[in-house]
Amino acid sequence: MCPRLAAAECDVDHYRREVRSGLLGLRWPSPPSATAHEYGSSLPGNATEKTKRQRAADTPKDTPKDTPKDTCLEGAGLGMFRDMMFANQKIFLTGGAGFIGSHIAESLLAGGAQLTIYDNFSSGSMENLHKIEGRVQIIRGDICDYPALEAAMRGHNLVSHQAAQLEILKCVDDPIWDLQVNTGGTINVLRAAKNLGVRKVVLASSACVYGQTDVEQQSEDHATQPNWAYGVSKLAGEHYARIYMTDYGLPVVNLRYGIIYGPREWYGRVFTIFLKRLFERKPLVVFGDGQQRRDFTYVGDVVRMHNLCLASDRANGQTYNVATGIGTTVNTLAALVAEAGGGLEVLHENVKEGEYSKIMPERVRLPAELKVMTLSPAKALAELGWKPEVALKDGLQHQIAWLKDHLHRWHTVHI
Ligand SMILES: NC(=O)c1ccc[n+]([C@@H]2O[C@H](COP(=O)([O-])OP(=O)(O)OC[C@H]3O[C@@H](n4cnc5c(N)ncnc54)[C@H](O)[C@@H]3O)[C@@H](O)[C@H]2O)c1
Repeated sequence: MCPRLAAAECDVDHYRREVRSGLLGLRWPSPPSATAHEYGSSLPGNATEKTKRQRAADTPKDTPKDTPKDTCLEGAGLGMFRDMMFANQKIFLTGGAGFIGSHIAESLLAGGAQLTIYDNFSSGSMENLHKIEGRVQIIRGDICDYPALEAAMRGHNLVSHQAAQLEILKCVDDPIWDLQVNTGGTINVLRAAKNLGVRKVVLASSACVYGQTDVEQQSEDHATQPNWAYGVSKLAGEHYARIYMTDYGLPVVNLRYGIIYGPREWYGRVFTIFLKRLFERKPLVVFGDGQQRRDFTYVGDVVRMHNLCLASDRANGQTYNVATGIGTTVNTLAALVAEAGGGLEVLHENVKEGEYSKIMPERVRLPAELKVMTLSPAKALAELGWKPEVALKDGLQHQIAWLKDHLHRWHTVHI
């Protein structure tokens, strides 16, 4: 564990005092006396006005303008919210059985939330939820099924939308389906939240909305030209969110995640593929010159940022990168993993984009591969005092330690 993280976890009492004194602007009002559906309706017009009034009444009046400085918040890890931040909050989490969603779920529960997870378990698993089973309501349902989604969301005041399909090759094969899940599903979440008078929605978006770039770090106002259908479907979700904010007054926060890694990561991309090779004691295979740069962000850092945005009104209506700003080349990643594996061999293979590897015949090189994907976290630091704390080397060790105990999970890795 990184030393700052450990120190901050010990200093959680200090953090509690900051929160209670309102210094961080994260105090919650009393929960609404009416259930959400009592102050929302499926009709626009009156329902919208009512919803806006209710939201205004629910909003803390004394949110300070100053950016939080160097509080222990910056160094805290997954346990930072412990038993106070989300007390009395009824939170609805889509995709909570997945990699990132299950970490968010644990953290929200630790923060005192009453939590409902809504997931179709297409890539998520009950195993991800074993630590919190019995303390959380789990509903098996699809975000594309609007009536079921709205019925399940009823009675919640905050929504975190993490459900999506993430597989690039699937979206290349079937972009309509990708659009239905990622954009259609997001519209359903926004529509249900608006109709039910939900106070805020935090959306998981992606670095993939930016596409190819010449700049070293993309800030949030950088042009968006996705290179994959997946990025288009996530970007469309962001645009719909904007419409729900401007037309219906629904507060939404868009979080553009970099490449997130950590325990429970399941899908086959460079990080997990290298680790699989490490456990098989096989050489690591780098496609091309290995100079592709990627922004690897630890899942615990993402959870902290997510929770800040869910808790703080300051984030409402904003889009934030959730990334380190550090461009790690695939060569560097390979060297780190090889070192962690006690000196594994690293091979380079010239595979064309969209073609299969000869060394790993089961593996295809992604089409339209990006040269650089590095996102600036400056806005999140300036406005919310968030910055990533877990160095790649440390996060890698966490992930390796988890994998050692979960080798059976490899069958879910699509390579
Ligand atoms: N992991 C990353 O590096 C990364 C990067 C950028 C953005 N994101 C975004 O973060 C979010 C979480 O991703 P993750 O890495 O945890 O992926 P994941 O696949 O582990 O989690 C997605 C969850 O959504 C569920 N799901 C999928 N389709 C659904 C549907 N139609 N209805 C209900 N549930 C459904 C899955 O079963 C799974 O539990 C996604 O929105 C993703 O686009 C992730």
